[in-house]
Amino acid sequence: QTTPVILSGGAGTRLWPLSRNATPKQLLRLLGSETLIQSAARRAPAENGFKAPLIVAGEAHLAEIEAQLAEIGVAPHAIVLEPAGRNTAPAVALAAVMLPEDELMLVMPSDHIINDVEAFRAAIACAEPLAKEGWLVTFGITPDRPETGYGYIETAESIADGVHRVARFVEKPPLETAKAYLETGRFCWNAGIFLLRAGSFLAELRRHAPGIEAAVRQSVAGATTEGAVLRPDRESFLASPSDSIDYAVMEKAERVAVVPVEMGWSDIGAFNTLLEQLPRDEGGNAVGGDVIALDTDDCLIRSEGPLVAAIGVSNITIIATGDAVLVVANDRAQDVKRIIDTLKANG
Ligand code: GDD
Ligand code: MG
Repeated sequence: QTTPVILSGGAGTRLWPLSRNATPKQLLRLLGSETLIQSAARRAPAENGFKAPLIVAGEAHLAEIEAQLAEIGVAPHAIVLEPAGRNTAPAVALAAVMLPEDELMLVMPSDHIINDVEAFRAAIACAEPLAKEGWLVTFGITPDRPETGYGYIETAESIADGVHRVARFVEKPPLETAKAYLETGRFCWNAGIFLLRAGSFLAELRRHAPGIEAAVRQSVAGATTEGAVLRPDRESFLASPSDSIDYAVMEKAERVAVVPVEMGWSDIGAFNTLLEQLPRDEGGNAVGGDVIALDTDDCLIRSEGPLVAAIGVSNITIIATGDAVLVVANDRAQDVKRIIDTLKANG
């Protein structure tokens, strides 16, 4: 049996001003009526044999997460609250320490969409035998463009039906490198989804990032609980180094496998990927809220506040909220995080 582990931590800075500290992207209804974290929870449901999910999140989002899970009838196994974000390696370690060694964890980001959920579940079934043997299994998406917002996985030889050994991981390469990877046909995108035996993951973490493993174990040993909510000991957790599961473990471990899968996957990381997923009019525009758009093409225009009017523009995104307006060229969507950096620098 497998426990879904849902990571709800990232701020979603490239979706500013829709995503804010209080309402990161996974808690927003970006595509229709469901939030991204609700879609994540429903992807691995009890009726398909999954156990109740374990959510790893920040204290500030507890009430909203509880409300959103209740709305879809999901009672979590636990909600683990990080005293502060230490990136994904400590977040996954919290879950691993809480579960029995033999438990399989399906680690899922909370900010993805997967259109073909059947294909996703088939890929998990394909990964299970290897994960039980201690392989760290990741899922790979066939790239259709040289996207620089994702990590890449180079596949090596096949080790089982539908499963390859991983030759290497490359996190968010520059454009020219990404183009060269596409030409080889050997690279997949790292979907950031993992199937891991809890004990095997912790053993690899102990080998490659002992500081994280020790700090997380200590923080869980000193945790307080209140119903399904677990609060790890603050001081010990904050002593953990901050690192992603990709850098801390997956790039360094020996027995790492990838299951390539076509499942209509996308990380709603930036406005260009959001636009691709939204229903569009004949001009290729996705428009929402109080908006007038005349002679516009391939624009994402959304207002949560004032009337927004645009004429004769192409390939741009305009987002208006109650207190901010963003205008960005769609091919610069990845750079929106620079605005957050600037805001921080200006205090
Ligand atoms: N609980 C918790 N705590 N969750 C976290 C934390 C944390 O400190 N940091 C990140 N997360 C969550 C985010 O909410 C997101 O769901 C997921 O972990 C991945 O983090 P991102 O910050 O979105 O990573 P990324 O998109 O830059 O890169 C990763 O995902 C890509 C695919 O979406 C990498 O794995 C890439 O290689 C991969 O291509
Ligand atoms: Mg992401």
